[in-house]
Amino acid sequence: MECLLTIFLGFISMLLFCMFCSRKRKDGEPPLIKGWIPFLGKALEFRKNSQQFLSQLQQEHGDVFTVLIAGKYITFIMNPFLYSSVIKHGKQLDFHRFSDSAASRSFNYTPVQSGLFPGMSDHIQRSYSLLKGPDLDLLTSSMMTKLQQVLRCRFLSSEESGSDGDWQEAELYEFCKCVMFRTTFNTLYGHSEKLCLDQLREDFEKFDGIFPLLMARVPIALLGKTKEIREKLIRFFYPQRMEEWRAPCKFIQKRMELFQQYDTLQDRDKAAHHFAMMWAAVGNTIPAAFWCLYHLISCPEALEAVRAEIISVVGEKNMKLIFEEDITITRQQLEQMVNLESSINESLRLSSVSMNIRVVQEDFCLRLGDQHSINLRKDDIVALYPESTHLDPEIYDQPQRFRFDRFVEDGKEKTDFYKCGQKVRYYLMPFGSGATQCPGRFFAMNELKQFVCVTLLMCEMQLSENQQEAMLDKSRAGLGVMPPVNQITFKYRTKKPGDNMKREE
Ligand code: HEM
Ligand SMILES: *[C@@H]1O[C@H](CO)[C@@H](O)[C@H](O)[C@H]1NC(C)=O
Repeated sequence: MECLLTIFLGFISMLLFCMFCSRKRKDGEPPLIKGWIPFLGKALEFRKNSQQFLSQLQQEHGDVFTVLIAGKYITFIMNPFLYSSVIKHGKQLDFHRFSDSAASRSFNYTPVQSGLFPGMSDHIQRSYSLLKGPDLDLLTSSMMTKLQQVLRCRFLSSEESGSDGDWQEAELYEFCKCVMFRTTFNTLYGHSEKLCLDQLREDFEKFDGIFPLLMARVPIALLGKTKEIREKLIRFFYPQRMEEWRAPCKFIQKRMELFQQYDTLQDRDKAAHHFAMMWAAVGNTIPAAFWCLYHLISCPEALEAVRAEIISVVGEKNMKLIFEEDITITRQQLEQMVNLESSINESLRLSSVSMNIRVVQEDFCLRLGDQHSINLRKDDIVALYPESTHLDPEIYDQPQRFRFDRFVEDGKEKTDFYKCGQKVRYYLMPFGSGATQCPGRFFAMNELKQFVCVTLLMCEMQLSENQQEAMLDKSRAGLGVMPPVNQITFKYRTKKPGDNMKREE
């Protein structure tokens, strides 16, 4: 009760504060859009359908404007030719302060930049190199083994339950969640008989469902059992438990050692950091895996081209062996699969809505291109909204359509995309931009490729008839890859060599 009262009083005082200090647009500042509810501003409209909301504002006010959203003044830059001015200004437009404060609040750890942990932020940044280069080879081969184990087990056990050699049915998002959660978790954190990953996944999904509200600064006390669930998730990663897990990857090992060096870091904080990393590693990868498979099996031409490419790189012999033993597909082989890579990028283009957020460090004037500049105030936010580029009909012909080979030209990666006759540099940015790009992007691309490869090598797949198209859950826009809102069922049958013979008899 007392707690509710405090929140209520807090809210009222914020309202009063905003009504009296309501800001006016000054000279040289972008157009300001406030909405009629002080403080909340345009938050509700933004949450409902951010793409539509922002493109409407762009039509009214031009490419650059400031909107009050949930108490923050956010200046949106809607023109891809202006992105580089923002990306270049790393000093005045800082990313890490925002991510540190948002993440520490959402995952409930002491902010890394609170001054208590000298040097830790840099050490963390450096540890990200363990997600690429030669270390990525190890991650790739470990992921490959896990994917084959999990998928083999899944396909063979469902085969036993049905009449053999026949089509089985399953829900596609559930399938992706189940496979990608387990394989990604085991590859990164290691394994142990004692771990109950199904329970962990259930809790993770509950937490993740509420995550947009946490990011929108809704107090966790108002969110039902979320706080309890978050505590449970954090407890999962206590150091004494993690020490029992076998074969975690080098990246996670490095983080464990690093946290160990800081006496000021409580065990609970260490655990919360590990939990946050797990969220980052699976939160976007799972919906991304869904859209890749979904688009491929919705489009026979794409499915055929990608399947043929996979078989030509991996070899018929390996394909036949995959139910008997673990086969290898190296990182170099994955790189050769341009049709597959293009399909993945095309899926990300259609489903990723990440906002690239920077916090203004001091009042300053940002030059945007040759003619234009805007004044910005300290602590305001500057945001790039790549979805408007991803869906720009001038850059991508028929932008709503999935075209698996949009990013391929003459058998190689296509990188030239134009708008008004001018080449666009930032045409695809599902992983953010500049120095703050997602450090897991190489691993993520690889695991998505591997997931599609192993699945298609093991079975034939089709969408079940008579169902709606999959639709994006727009309420999560801004936080990464949007999940589907509706259920999609698919049919599959394994390609175990014995089965084909049986079928042909
Ligand atoms: C398809 C999958 C993924 C997508 C679309 C994605 C996207 C993103 C985006 C948009 C950001 C923010 C960057 C910015 O605003 O400039 C980010 C940050 C981050 N991602 Fe990913 N990510 C994916 C997979 C992963 C994986 C697999 C890992 C770990 C193994 C990971 C680890 C991280 C971390 C640690 C950050 C924070 C970086 C920092 O604070 O400096 N991500 N990701
Ligand atoms: C796909 O996207 C990734 C990351 O955004 C990029 O590195 C890669 O070059 C792209 N590949 C193709 C074929 O477009």
